[in-house]
Amino acid sequence: MQICRDLPSLRAATAALRAASRRLALVPTMGALHEGHVALVHAARGEADAVAASIFVNPLQFNASDDLARYPRDEEGDLAKLRAAGCDLVWMPPVEAMYPPGSATVIEVAGPSAGWEGDARPGHFRGVATVCCKLFLQTGAEVAAFGEKDWQQLQVVTRMAADLDIPIHILPVPTVREADGLALSSRNRFLTPEERATAPLLHRVMTEAAAAIAGGAAVPGTLAAGGARLVAAGFAPDYLALVEAETLRALDAPRADGPMRLVAAARLGTVRLLDNIPV
Ligand code: PAF
Repeated sequence: MQICRDLPSLRAATAALRAASRRLALVPTMGALHEGHVALVHAARGEADAVAASIFVNPLQFNASDDLARYPRDEEGDLAKLRAAGCDLVWMPPVEAMYPPGSATVIEVAGPSAGWEGDARPGHFRGVATVCCKLFLQTGAEVAAFGEKDWQQLQVVTRMAADLDIPIHILPVPTVREADGLALSSRNRFLTPEERATAPLLHRVMTEAAAAIAGGAAVPGTLAAGGARLVAAGFAPDYLALVEAETLRALDAPRADGPMRLVAAARLGTVRLLDNIPV
């Protein structure tokens, strides 16, 4: 597994892969890897001959109230997991290589960036879209794997790649969950044992709400009841909403003409849990 920390060596490594006429897939990450990331590497491998992963904690997607400083970092553990997963190349640029002094270009994706995480974390999707665009262009990958866990991010990146005619296939990969339903996340490690025991309720409430809505229950009442259950259990919900799957537009009644998603974010102690499921 080759490790590249500057752009010239990345270009040389991807050129060598291409010379062997190999289709390259990219798994963008911010490190602190878990089984969800390993699933991305396996899914990427299924679509390409070679897999590159990037590890870059992107300062542009954290805002003032956000948690850049306490974002978990574990370079050695991450590299061991990527090696075991069969990754061919790891791109680990320092911040100055990604954003050299004088960098002045950002990517703003209107539409799916609006609302939900876009409201909770102003500027977050500008940072995500900008770094993903750069990662796509730096690696020249034909495929990029993204987890469905960050559903809004997946829609933002898919829209951005389509709008900018970047020749890359965005591969959605299903959320990996613990046995009790909790979606894997690098931030779960910050849950106390009591919070960890409560955390799966988010997915349970969502699953029951989705089933009720699919069975004809009124959307606003169902979501309000779900939110109240979360509050009673100690969550501070930011949102629990039914949306159009691609545009993230809120729905107060089911649509008959396209996929829908239930999206939620709720704070439990100091940890903000995100989840989404199809309806
Ligand atoms: O989902 C993440 O880990 C990040 O948002 C990503 C896609 C690697 C961009 O920094």
